[in-house]
Formats: sequence, C-alpha cells, structure tokens
Amino acid sequence: MSRPKISVIGAGNVGATCAHWAAAKELGDIVLVDIPDKVGVAQGKALDLACCGPIERFDSKITGTSDYEDVAGSDVVIITAGLPRKPGMSRDDLIATNVKIVKSVSEQVAKHAPDSVVIVVANPLDAMVYTAWKTTGFPTNRILGQAGCLDVARFRTFIAMEIGCSVEDVTALLMGGHGDDMVPLPRYTSVHGIPVQQLLSDETITACVERAKVGGGEIVKLMGTSAYYAPASGSVQMAEAIIKDKKRILPCAAYCDAEYGVGGYFVGVPCILGAGGMEQVIEIDLDNEEQGLMDESVSHVKDLVGVVRETFPELV
Ligand code: NAI
Ligand code: 2OP
Repeated sequence: MSRPKISVIGAGNVGATCAHWAAAKELGDIVLVDIPDKVGVAQGKALDLACCGPIERFDSKITGTSDYEDVAGSDVVIITAGLPRKPGMSRDDLIATNVKIVKSVSEQVAKHAPDSVVIVVANPLDAMVYTAWKTTGFPTNRILGQAGCLDVARFRTFIAMEIGCSVEDVTALLMGGHGDDMVPLPRYTSVHGIPVQQLLSDETITACVERAKVGGGEIVKLMGTSAYYAPASGSVQMAEAIIKDKKRILPCAAYCDAEYGVGGYFVGVPCILGAGGMEQVIEIDLDNEEQGLMDESVSHVKDLVGVVRETFPELV
C-alpha cells in the first residue's frame, strides 16, 4: 500500500511550514512545489526537512520541485502560492495578483492531480477558493479554503490566555469570511463544557472576539509579513482529517447554497471533513444578531468574488 501524498504549492513561509507540520504528523509523502526560479528553495527546504526524520522519527519522502508532474497521485493539494500582505495592506489588496497565481496553479492541479482534495490558503481566501473551484472544475466537496481553523485557534488562544487555562480545554466556533468581519461565536464557546460566559465578563469576551478578528493584522504589524505557523497548522489539521477520514467537524470555507441562505459561495461554516473532502455542512441555529453578522461577512465575500468575476470574465 502506498503512503498518502500531500502536495504543497508555494514553498514560502506558509507552504514550507505546512510541509513541516505534515511531516511531523507523518501524514504521508510530501511534495513542495514552487516556480522554476525558486526550485532550489523548494528542494533545499524539502531536503532540510527530510533530514529531521531521523531525529523526529517520521518516515516521509519529502521532495522539492517546479514540475507539476510530481504532484500526480496527490490525495490532498494545499495551495499557498501567492503574495502575502505587508504592513498597511488588507488581505483584499492582494486580489489581482493572487487570482492570476491561483488560477495558473489550479490549472496544473486539475491536470496532474484530478482526484485530489484542494485546500486553498492564498489570500484573499474566500475569492481564491472561488478561483480554484472555477479553474479546476472540481466538485464542491473537493474544494475547501483554510481560514476558520486558524481564526478559531486564535480565538481559543486568547480565551485561554484570559482565563489562565489550557488551550486544549477551550472549544469554540467561528463562521463567515476570512476578513476582519469574521464571526467568532461566544454562544458556541465553552471551556471543558462550561459556557465561557460563566468564566469571563462580557467585556473580556468581546475583547477576545475583536482580537481574533484582527489577529492576522496584529502579527503583520509585529513582523512585517503575515503569519505562518498557525495558518500552516490549520491547513494541516484539515489535511489530516481528510487523509485519515476522521470526520472531524472543523470551520472551513466550504460551498454553501441553501445553507445559511448563502446562495452559492464558499464561506466559513462548520463542516465534516473526511475522505470525501467536505462531506457535510453543519447548520446551527444563529440568533438574529449572529445571523446579521454572518450576512454582513457573507456580503463582503460576495463583493470580493464580484471583483474576481469582473476582472476575469473567464472565471464567471
Ligand atoms: P511567501 O511569499 O512566503 O510564499 C509564497 C510562495 O509562493 C513563494 O515562495 C512564491 O515563490 C510562491 N509562488 C508564487 N507564485 C507561484 C506559482 N505560480 N506557483 C508556485 N509557487 C508560486 O508567502 P506566505 O507567507 O507563505 O503566504 C502565502 C499566501 O498565503 C499569501 O497569499 C498569504 O496572504 C496567504 N495566507 C493565508 C492565510 C489563511 O489563513 N488563509 C494565513 C496566512 C497567509
Ligand atoms: C492571517 O490571518 C494573513 O490571512 C492571514 O494571518
């Protein structure tokens, strides 16, 4: 039996760190792909990582390449290729450049790994997932975006910091797009079963919600480029659920039509991830305020997709 295969497109900060987490979890063989000018970087990082195997005790074949023939047979493809934001930029400022990159990458993925499940990471996330979907022509269950796993991990971290408890005990839910109007849901947040409202004041919970919403920007301001450890960790959490058919319920950018009244867009919702990719969107009850915030976030996603459609009519 052959090992599962994970290809990571873009061997930069997020891509290389995806390879790192995937190897550490011994998820399978890993291919790191970058443009021909950077094939040495992809190969060098792959070799460096492979040499951790004897110490960290994982058996994975890790290779770097710029040749898409090498992604053939991938079970999961993680697309991180794209510009990251710099201080003062929003995720949306990246749209024109990154659509072109994600489109060209997706054409290669469709050709060489036609049975893969694709996890898009490049920003602006919700528009890039749409771009990958339109370009590959894959069924919607095999196209996902990584945002919620990261954003909810940030929210959980900030809650745990305030309580002074283990992050492991904090579970939470977050929905909407991967913008500053994402929707963390305190009503669905608990600490080992204890509703968070019994442990923190409303003001502190609101501060955690607001910090999670701008969590990416906080890191960009500190280090001049965007985060990569947690984004890669979230991406590999999704890949693991798919490769091991775990049926995990994770917040991901998934295709919603009737669900939540979204009407045919990829937005962050809780869904079941397993061997079939996105196997089911879970619909939860939202109160009026939560639904209002969700609608606002979804309308931003629709605006972004509108920009893609206007600029690239072939993606309509
Ligand atoms: P980076 O600049 O470190 O790496 C990007 C890599 O993509 C570079 O090595 C570049 O050569 C490569 N690349 C560019 N065009 C390519 C192509 N056509 N084919 C293959 N590779 C190509 O950037 P970083 O920090 O890794 O971020 C990557 C993307 O992920 C950005 O768009 C960033 O905004 C996004 N991001 C998304 C997050 C999320 O939660 N969805 C979180 C963090 C970053
Ligand atoms: C983040 O949230 C920039 O999307 C990236 O860190």
